[in-house]
Amino acid sequence: MNYARMVIEKEAPEEYGYDRIRYNLSESSITDQKLSDIGLSLPDLTLFYGEHRGDKDLRALIAAQDEIISPDDVLVTAGAAGALFIISTSLLSERDHLVVIRPNYATNIETPRAIGCAISYVDLAFEDGFAIDVARVAAAIQPNTRLISVTCPHNPTGTMMDRADLDALVALADSSNCHLLVDETYRDLSYGRRLPSAASLSTRAISVSSLSKAFGIPGIRIGWLVTRDKALQERFLAAKEQIGICGSVIDEGIARGMLERRDSFLATLLPEMARRRDIVQAWIDREPLVDWVRPEGGVVGFPRLNVDPGFDLDRFYVNLLENHGTYVGPGHWFEMPKHFFRVGFGWPTEAQLRAGLDAISAALRR
Ligand SMILES: Cc1ncc(COP(=O)(O)O)c(C=O)c1O
Repeated sequence: MNYARMVIEKEAPEEYGYDRIRYNLSESSITDQKLSDIGLSLPDLTLFYGEHRGDKDLRALIAAQDEIISPDDVLVTAGAAGALFIISTSLLSERDHLVVIRPNYATNIETPRAIGCAISYVDLAFEDGFAIDVARVAAAIQPNTRLISVTCPHNPTGTMMDRADLDALVALADSSNCHLLVDETYRDLSYGRRLPSAASLSTRAISVSSLSKAFGIPGIRIGWLVTRDKALQERFLAAKEQIGICGSVIDEGIARGMLERRDSFLATLLPEMARRRDIVQAWIDREPLVDWVRPEGGVVGFPRLNVDPGFDLDRFYVNLLENHGTYVGPGHWFEMPKHFFRVGFGWPTEAQLRAGLDAISAALRR
């Protein structure tokens, strides 16, 4: 494995220092929650080695979100990041080929790179509304393709494929004898209809999600993967056992408490996040130098700066942070040009969001 640090992690706000940022619009989750915010306190847990697949009740709560899925189809992992790592390292080798949608959350690209497999990128374009063209994905398939990797709702654009495209990707993986990985980390943050989990549609599809984004608890490292392929699940479990045997009983206990409150938490959250998206939309409507593809899921969007070619984008981002106290995710976090940036509207307070957006307008002009 040829590991290289990802620029999005090197430049992450927690690495830069939260105390150095006034308006943090760089996050991809809702506001970080305290235990008391969600009405939880730590029970007197026995700190044993937990069940290797993850706590049974926790897996039942995860499985209950989709038809057909059973608790044994679920493997609890150290965040969605842990699930993605297990999937890539279990399915890909130097002799294999991956088709991945780009831009994407960096791990979906960097771990396959570290493995050294061949990669075909299907690049999304602003002009197409960042929509996935399934025909282009199909054209990229090779005899040694082991995995097709997509994220939906998408990071960093917040766009979503429709049910017909998801079905077409599932059918493509089935007919190509490969697996489909759908990173569904933002699925609970769908503003329209929530898509079914891919794993519920085919034994060749693997779903990944976590509690980090929609529930704002990334500090407990709880994510999961779902597959109905028993033999494959056994391989994934072997990988998890070699990495860390089992998860943290404390993390799993908190995760259980969170998921028991899932429906009421989301019922309050979703209208509020839709309203936040409207705040960004209203800013874009009155800001001639910025446009975007309106996100349909998640709490991020990927606006485009309409500036002259000579505009100094590096200076803009430094000015935005140092003089206007505002941090966003520049395009290079996603291997995209710097006139794109990711804006997170779910993490800051409403006042911070509004001030950060105004700061972007100000920094564009001086
Ligand atoms: C699409 C996507 N997948 C996975 C992750 C990893 O999240 P975590 O490991 O905290 O669940 C992220 C984090 O930004 C993400 O955006």
